[in-house]
Amino acid sequence: MAKGNILVVDDDSNLLEVIKMRLESVKYDVVTARNEEESINLIKEHEIDLSVIDLQLEKTDGISVMEHLHRINPDVPVVILTAYGTIESAVEAMRRGAYSYLTKPFDHRELLLQIDQAMEKRKLALEVKRLQGLIAEKYDFSNIIARSYKMQRVLAQVVIIARTDSTVFIHGESGTGKELIAKAIHLESGRKDGPFVAINCAAIPENLLESELFGYEKGAFSGAVQSTKGLFTQAHGGTLFLDEIGDMPLSLQSKILRVLQDRQVCPLGCKKPVEVDVRIIVATNKDLQKEVENKNFRQDLFYRIHVIPVSLPPLREKKDDIPFLVEHFLEKFSRIMNKKVSGITSQALQNLMLHDWPGNVRELENTIEFAMAMTQTNIISDDLVLQTSIPAQDKLKPFKEAKSDFEKEYLSNILHLTQGNVSKASDLAGKYRADFYQLLKKYDLKPEEYKR
Ligand SMILES: Nc1ncnc2c1ncn2[C@@H]1O[C@H](COP(=O)(O)OP(=O)(O)OP(=O)(O)O)[C@@H](O)[C@H]1O
Ligand SMILES: [Mg+2]
Repeated sequence: MAKGNILVVDDDSNLLEVIKMRLESVKYDVVTARNEEESINLIKEHEIDLSVIDLQLEKTDGISVMEHLHRINPDVPVVILTAYGTIESAVEAMRRGAYSYLTKPFDHRELLLQIDQAMEKRKLALEVKRLQGLIAEKYDFSNIIARSYKMQRVLAQVVIIARTDSTVFIHGESGTGKELIAKAIHLESGRKDGPFVAINCAAIPENLLESELFGYEKGAFSGAVQSTKGLFTQAHGGTLFLDEIGDMPLSLQSKILRVLQDRQVCPLGCKKPVEVDVRIIVATNKDLQKEVENKNFRQDLFYRIHVIPVSLPPLREKKDDIPFLVEHFLEKFSRIMNKKVSGITSQALQNLMLHDWPGNVRELENTIEFAMAMTQTNIISDDLVLQTSIPAQDKLKPFKEAKSDFEKEYLSNILHLTQGNVSKASDLAGKYRADFYQLLKKYDLKPEEYKR
């Protein structure tokens, strides 16, 4: 794959040819122009990642080409080529937005080096922009609390996934928000005005599940007094959420597989299958791969549904979300119970932070609901939320230890994000490279372990 598209502008055709060859030999795609007019046409037709522009063109000067390029895409780095003795104009070009300049005659290795650096910077800038965009969009999910890094990553994923129509596979322990995320994907997608239909495959008896899913024609069996639409048909134009798919009986798995392949369903007793247009989201709290190994789940179905995996962290791995979840649920139940409760004591919050939450967010939600129902005052005290057997003080870490835990996790997250690229990582962290290295050393973090 090419490393990027470069536009080279110079009125010297020979030099143009030489630069083109050199850049192509290191896997850049190159388009060339000899004057402003040709450049403008190329800028319209191609997506340019970087440009090398000679400052002294025959009719115009290179700055005007650069400015034209920047009007279309202000982020494209421009390397200016300038003749010996015209440094002032090169400096002027930098002031007007050039990335760097080279004086002719120049060493081609120097040109390559500058181009590689500029491209690297540009990639980082684009990545940061993309992430900022995602975080801005996240605020649409006002009912989803996601302050922790892990949940922010999930939401960023949701935004991307929502734009596709592929099958989503949500995995997470019970109560981690699988259904909530499935709905969020639906609501962010082009199908948001269509139906969102959910079915819990574990909750419906095996003999009813098939007719629930596919529907039946009148007279298909005794008791079928009128035709009934199945959930697949009900979800037409929208999203079908198959919850607890790991609990679907094997007999039904092969039928589902067929529907997913053909995008057609045949209600019980039907003569002709009907087309359905649904987006499928499945969820499970089981290790489905293991279920496949144990022959409880069909491998072909597994591959068919395991297209875009989303993994939801358990609450004990995103404890920084707890205070915000508590606030969220206090508001929710204040509304529902029509009871004004303004907050929770710090001891109560501490108890909540120290709990392990095997039932995850749902357990936390239930805990708050219970406390809200029971409280006689407008603040929830610790006697109404879980009593930990070990006194809280013994479990709280000293400040210094908590701080270094935080630093280590922060650095590790940034290394993940940049795939172990220390200069990007230090940029993102707003640290000098040398200081950043010091920190990595302090926590024994090795950037090479984060390279993919
Ligand atoms: N990040 C979150 N922000 C706000 N509420 C949440 C969040 N995660 C979960 N909840 C709430 O917790 C409850 C459980 O979530 P949900 O039903 O989506 O979980 P689940 O993984 O499908 O659980 P189960 O495995 O038990 O079916 C819901 O009331 C949901 O609104
Ligand atoms: Mg669920």
